[in-house]
Amino acid sequence: MNARDRTRPEPVAGMAVRSTMDLFAAADASPPTPPSTEPLAPGAIVWRGGAASCAGALLADLQGVLDAAPLRHMLTPGGFRMSVAMTNCGALGWVSDVTGYRYDAADPDNARPWPAMPRSFLDLATRAAAQAGFDGFAPDACLVNRYEPGARLSLHQDRNERDFRAPIVSVSLGLPAVFLFGGTKRSDRAARLPLAHGDVVVWGGPARLRYHGVLALKEGQHALTGRHRINLTFRRAG
Ligand code: SIN
Ligand code: FE2
Repeated sequence: MNARDRTRPEPVAGMAVRSTMDLFAAADASPPTPPSTEPLAPGAIVWRGGAASCAGALLADLQGVLDAAPLRHMLTPGGFRMSVAMTNCGALGWVSDVTGYRYDAADPDNARPWPAMPRSFLDLATRAAAQAGFDGFAPDACLVNRYEPGARLSLHQDRNERDFRAPIVSVSLGLPAVFLFGGTKRSDRAARLPLAHGDVVVWGGPARLRYHGVLALKEGQHALTGRHRINLTFRRAG
């Protein structure tokens, strides 16, 4: 660590702390553009900036989740360490290890239930789903994905959930990323969708089993998350 690094705010459990400088910078910034909804495919939308106004509350509540269930790099069924660090909150948590993928009510690292889903998470997820026409979304699982530069998520379907009638709600915070939104076959060409801090993607109904992924994160610095992108993915799993 060099002298310049030592003057930077210390990250709390991997999250950057906002310095006074950042607060002044935020006050100087031009007013945020209001949220808007873009259709992506039948059953899928991007709610641009949908999480921007509550991002601070989400990240504050996330800290409590991370204290109880720290981020970790899970193993794929093939035995590879995932580049994205993950944890969960809610009644069920998504887990991967050499035996496969599953939802589990307990954190395998400490055998305790996953931390409760914060009210701020639940409220945003329900509002986002409603934007896409999925009223009454009641997620019981929230996967927290933390990307550092170079981390990526290869094309996959979310299909470990019991009931595909509920949509997936995916919230982007911090550094921008390129989201891949493919078809229902792995070989279908995937659209490249840039996602910024505060954007929310919802896919359900005819889009529920679309393949998706995230390209390797570019190097960067974000006032709220430092060198990271945080993704919150809400599901009805049980
Ligand atoms: C996921 O598919 O679980 C995460 C997607 C994302 O990080 O945007
Ligand atoms: Fe996914």
